[in-house]
Amino acid sequence: MSKKFYITTPIYYVNARPHIGHAYTTIACDTIARRQRLLGAETFFLTGTDEHGQKIERAAQAAGKTPQQYADEISAEFRKLWKRMGISNDDFIRTTEDRHKKRVQELFRTIRDNGFIYKGTYTGQYCVSDELYVDGAKPGDPCPTCGRITETVQEENYFFKLSAFQDKLLALYANAEFIRPEARRNEVISFVRSGLRDLSISRSTFSWGIPVPDDPKHVIYVWLDALANYITAIGYGSSHAGAQEAFKKFWPADVHMIGKEIVRFHCVYWPAFLMAAGLAMPKAIVAHGWLLFEESKMSKSRGNIVRTETILDVLGADALRYFLLREVVFGQDGSFSFDALVQRYNSDLANGLGNLASRTLTMINRYFKGEVPYPSHGASKKAADDAIAEFARKTIREFGELFDQFQFSRALESAWALVAAVDKYIVENEPWALGEKQDEESRSRLATVLYTAAEALRIATALAYPVMPEATAKIWTQLGLGDIKKLALSELAWGQLRLGTKLGEVQPVFPRADKSAIERMQKMEEDQRGIPVPEITAAEVPAPSSSTQTASTAAPAAAATNNKISIDDFAKIELRVGLVKVAERVPKADKLLRLEIDIGTEVRQVLAGIAEAYAPETLVGRKVVIVANLAPRKLRGMESNGMIVAASLEGGSPVLAGFLEDVPVGARLK
Ligand code: ME8
Ligand code: MG
Repeated sequence: MSKKFYITTPIYYVNARPHIGHAYTTIACDTIARRQRLLGAETFFLTGTDEHGQKIERAAQAAGKTPQQYADEISAEFRKLWKRMGISNDDFIRTTEDRHKKRVQELFRTIRDNGFIYKGTYTGQYCVSDELYVDGAKPGDPCPTCGRITETVQEENYFFKLSAFQDKLLALYANAEFIRPEARRNEVISFVRSGLRDLSISRSTFSWGIPVPDDPKHVIYVWLDALANYITAIGYGSSHAGAQEAFKKFWPADVHMIGKEIVRFHCVYWPAFLMAAGLAMPKAIVAHGWLLFEESKMSKSRGNIVRTETILDVLGADALRYFLLREVVFGQDGSFSFDALVQRYNSDLANGLGNLASRTLTMINRYFKGEVPYPSHGASKKAADDAIAEFARKTIREFGELFDQFQFSRALESAWALVAAVDKYIVENEPWALGEKQDEESRSRLATVLYTAAEALRIATALAYPVMPEATAKIWTQLGLGDIKKLALSELAWGQLRLGTKLGEVQPVFPRADKSAIERMQKMEEDQRGIPVPEITAAEVPAPSSSTQTASTAAPAAAATNNKISIDDFAKIELRVGLVKVAERVPKADKLLRLEIDIGTEVRQVLAGIAEAYAPETLVGRKVVIVANLAPRKLRGMESNGMIVAASLEGGSPVLAGFLEDVPVGARLK
């Protein structure tokens, strides 16, 4: 009787190219899926891209592309990266695919037919970045999740009777396995206990989405569209017999793996939608923490991302997989740094598992012509040999228990304790010294020591396979064991290494990384991000040209001596007429406004320290002068792309430059 196992990642928004934050979720799922396959479960691992909604529509517009073109490009990048990393997903769903769109409409219809949808008018605040209705917020309030200013939405919508599900949801959470970890479960319970309001599930003021069945003026709320991927991909709502079969087989999902910022959507809205449609509940929703880089959540909008490709180029996918799962306590936030990555790589992989493999297999080659030797059961057997066997048995048990509770770092810690114990065993039993002797007792002792080391290596390798599929497959072949994917993990036990097994060719699996690896990766990322720019304070106003240049930053040659510049120097500064489209305060920064400025060719985000002089609403529609070719810099974690020109008065408020006659947007000042 074969078990099934269905696991999903969130589907990734296509407004950002993949970074290692996305890779983290995908790697965790891939690891679980691989372990389940070895345990014999019929496994389905789903990932994909989330392509509809206002956020994507706007991002495409800013990039000068149609939403479909834009989504096609970025979705392809996700697929390319997962392929390069050897991610073992069984399907990749895109929400712009026909199969998905039709089945989402079917879901909408079903929920409507069941009486849980009604028409109304929504007036309230909305966060486009999170595609979240912010209940109880006033115009100008920030989004509770991301801190961006919410937008006021007033439109005719369809509503979902979320309020009808409060008690049923609380009953669902009584099962402690449903939301993990505990901290997230408690948050959800208190959110639901505080009362649920009905949820708007359609939008009617833009069109990039799936039309509501029978009322195509509306598009379905992007979160209902996106969450449904978990069922549409496996055949929900299809009329094909094969698809229906797959849905019956795989639903409900065993694990929805998500990041902690999208817990509410998955633990409140999703189960309620499923209940309304009469479908079964997923078995577990597991939330991980954030990867931090330079102390804040790695994200495109903060501009602090690390690309996976850089790490793949220098250390390979297995190094990244191992590092993320070993270093970050699952469920909590964890910091990423290149130093820590290389240090872990060297200590645990190059000097740890890699070294154990190469020393053990090299000695078997040298002393036993490359065949696994016969351990002795006679006089030369020692307590230390049994201790390793016992240690290995305990590790198999512990690893499995911890891993299946999503405690990856502790599971790996336990497997590496076995590696360390065998290392110590090898040092204490000095096989190299035994190898120098020819007497029978020494030979027999040598055989036992190397058999014991090789068998422990086999077990550590088998356990590590889901985490490092590539490297462990190599060690497996070097051990002469063939294809590691055929391993029956549920039967893994001490003593299965067959005597006389002929080793494969022995090669190092994890070559040591030196210091230059860190520098190389850092450089690759800096090149990608552009010139590193210093942080400036929130109060900074476009500075008057003053003499703050120091010797080390003074421009060479062209800079004239008597404070004058040439016309060529001036021509380097691209001043343009811009039109303010959006202006809003930045939470917790009294002086700062976030502006979106149309400069003719594109819309730029600029942060300007003018909040004390100008109310945001007085700026929208106003023409300003912007330094368009200034290197981007980060302020309060947001990117500022250009600078507005203002007269700066000593002790007074800045005054924006403007024009008496009308000028076209984008015109250059020279
Ligand atoms: O939320 N650290 O998509 P998304 C850890 N489309 N994980 C991170 C991370 C970081 N710094 N940054 C991103 C969405 N992630 C929706 C989901 S599902 C029906 C719709 C991970 O692209 C995290 O797991 O913003 C997050 O949940 C996932 O990327 C998707 O993020
Ligand atoms: Mg996100």
